[in-house]
Amino acid sequence: MEKIFVTQPTLAPLGEYTELLKTVWASGIMTHNGPLVQKFEHDFCQYEMLDNIVTVTNGTYAIQAAIRALNIRGEIITSPFSFIATTSAILYEGCTPVYVDIDPETFNIDPQKIEYAITDKTVAIMPVHVFGNPCNIEAIEAIATKYHLKVIYDGAHAVGSRYKGKALLSFGDISATSFHATKMLNTAEGGGCITSNNELLKKLQMLRFFGYNDHKDVEIVGSNYKMTEVNAALGLANLKYLKEAIADRKRKYNLYKEILSCRNDLSFQKLSGECNCSYFPVVFRSEADLLLVQDKLLENNIVPRRYFYPSLNTYKTIVPYKKMPFSESLAERILCLPLYFNLSESDVIRIGEIICKSF
Ligand SMILES: Cc1ncc(COP(=O)(O)O)c(C=O)c1O
Repeated sequence: MEKIFVTQPTLAPLGEYTELLKTVWASGIMTHNGPLVQKFEHDFCQYEMLDNIVTVTNGTYAIQAAIRALNIRGEIITSPFSFIATTSAILYEGCTPVYVDIDPETFNIDPQKIEYAITDKTVAIMPVHVFGNPCNIEAIEAIATKYHLKVIYDGAHAVGSRYKGKALLSFGDISATSFHATKMLNTAEGGGCITSNNELLKKLQMLRFFGYNDHKDVEIVGSNYKMTEVNAALGLANLKYLKEAIADRKRKYNLYKEILSCRNDLSFQKLSGECNCSYFPVVFRSEADLLLVQDKLLENNIVPRRYFYPSLNTYKTIVPYKKMPFSESLAERILCLPLYFNLSESDVIRIGEIICKSF
């Protein structure tokens, strides 16, 4: 039996991608803010109802670029329940991550705990919309305004999520997203920064392009993080299927929930706002329960993923350890089940049933 992995990329029919590649071959333009990058940025913004996006090579750099564009140095309050990229981007830019524990129901940073972590060195808050589930935007904005802090959202999972009728990526001084192969919309590798501030927009464009401004003068120290035409072509081809892909995830997400209602010892993420349902995380009562179910799934050639695991505050080689009870407990008990476009509903049912029968 073929292995079922936790995810597979959502890909447009190959012919639609190669049609776009023909235009690259015809123009000979491979990069440097070419026509397909511009079209991808335009069409993505139209889909998401955003003012603009500055695409870059990956989501990790999108976070780094956001920190650079805001010109901040100091402590950045962030979530310990995330992928390592959130923390490493902060450290890479010479800032210090300060963790604030999560709300165990939404899995997002708990705004009620943020104020206690603010010091005179705090410069920003970097919450994560975990699994595309919107953070408490109003509470975070109120704290940021009160203490004059910048807000950078790690929206790596947030493409297609909505909050109060607006794109989730539209909030914060800057939102950073990812178009990695495993994400809701993919360009193989890729990312982007979203801001409605024109000055920040210009700076982000210069940062990805050696610091050049519109007149080809070097205005700031930049680097090279431009998205290529080949990646943008893939993004454009896949964008046509994004709406369908999200609807498909939501159907399978609900199906999993229905089947897993057979057990009363499992819990699920509490959704706040319109989540894209890009992942299906299930939370067990204990790590031992998780390991038992994981073994049963692996015996059946089903490969779930412990995600996020471990809690970031436990990476003692890069951050000083400080206990984060909710994040650590969740990280030990959470398993993401397979969820992707080509996964059949009968496989969702089979996976659900294996879990139901595991005890
Ligand atoms: C929460 C989160 N932030 C940031 C990133 C980094 O994105 P990328 O892989 O595009 O660099 C990821 C990627 O998996 C992520 O899950």
